[in-house]
Amino acid sequence: MPLSLLRIRHLRNIQNIEIEPGASLNLLWGGNGAGKTSILEAIYLLGRGRSFRGTEIGPLITTGKGETVVFGKLLEEDNKRDIIGISKQLKGTTQIRINGTAVSRLSTLAQTLPLQVLTPKSHEILERGSAYRRRFIDWGVFHVEHNIIKLANNYAKALKQRNAALRRSPQTAFAWDSILIENGTQIEAVRRQYLEKLIPIFSDKTEKLIGRSDITINYRRGWSENESYAESIKRRERDDLNRGFTGTGPHRADIRVEIAGLPVERVVSRGEQKLIIAALYLAQAKIASTESRVKPLILIDDLPAELDEEKRAVFLNELVYLNLQVFITGIDRNSFSAITPSSVFHVKHGEVFREN
Ligand SMILES: Nc1ncnc2c1ncn2[C@@H]1O[C@H](COP(=O)(O)OP(=O)(O)OP(=O)(O)O)[C@@H](O)[C@H]1O
Ligand SMILES: [Mg+2]
Repeated sequence: MPLSLLRIRHLRNIQNIEIEPGASLNLLWGGNGAGKTSILEAIYLLGRGRSFRGTEIGPLITTGKGETVVFGKLLEEDNKRDIIGISKQLKGTTQIRINGTAVSRLSTLAQTLPLQVLTPKSHEILERGSAYRRRFIDWGVFHVEHNIIKLANNYAKALKQRNAALRRSPQTAFAWDSILIENGTQIEAVRRQYLEKLIPIFSDKTEKLIGRSDITINYRRGWSENESYAESIKRRERDDLNRGFTGTGPHRADIRVEIAGLPVERVVSRGEQKLIIAALYLAQAKIASTESRVKPLILIDDLPAELDEEKRAVFLNELVYLNLQVFITGIDRNSFSAITPSSVFHVKHGEVFREN
């Protein structure tokens, strides 16, 4: 489902641009402050309905304007076109339209334009809270098993009710257990199945990218491997009552990347951490495209600039090999000499010039 047309209006320093990206690797290069990351932000908006940059960078909407509008045309395999339009207003509202119809669920957007973004900060997921890592894995699960959205919603609602009851009316708290057990057990099963596919591909990619074969993924499902979720929740009733929250279940799951039992971020260099995260993304994209025929779009901001020449060439070639639509930014056109991008765009002062 490559993006065949992209229009951006009033987003950061971009006033009004239109580009026709190529179906494989699109290179966006240009100086600092040119607008490269802003273009990735606009594409991300089309698939996720929000920016991937934190609020510290300031408003997405161009200073002095009241609204930003992004429009994208997706070319489907059967030649059908999906058209996504998204606008955000200064007052905080967002409007999303797919083929002219208003859409309120972000999961509909994510299904129409699945995408992932890899930035120089993505490796922070290794050290941040487990919620970030669960979200990463659940993105992958979602594109193989859409049902996880329903399971996760059911689970989250019941968990919220149970936690509130543990504090306010303990006698009613355990009435939520059957919903938690039913949905939680299934969430765990789909995550596990997904990781079974991900791990060997991840190992292959880390071997290629950093030449190590001792990097492992340690999945902790959120309760002991020796008991069922029903047994675990029953056994910990008293603990839950004392603490006032549910201490066991897939909401406590974690996925740690390790070397010899140690968190990988304590063993390898920062550049190597970035390559490990890149390997995870490459593995995830591969599964999405082979298992579910979803062709996720990959956005990569500045990463190649942080890699040495040899690693950069390996990474770029792995990307090309995935055969997905990729948007990759960089300051120096020459950093990409290891590959032949399908389209090259020079970004300058919020404008874009096609170079091939
Ligand atoms: N709301 C806004 N209105 C106008 N300009 C903005 C707004 N927010 C950010 N900018 C400016 O937009 C420009 C483009 O930023 P962007 O982060 O896209 O640049 P970049 O090409 O990715 O640069 P770098 O190579 O440094 O990462 C910057 O000069 C930034 O100051
Ligand atoms: Mg940038």
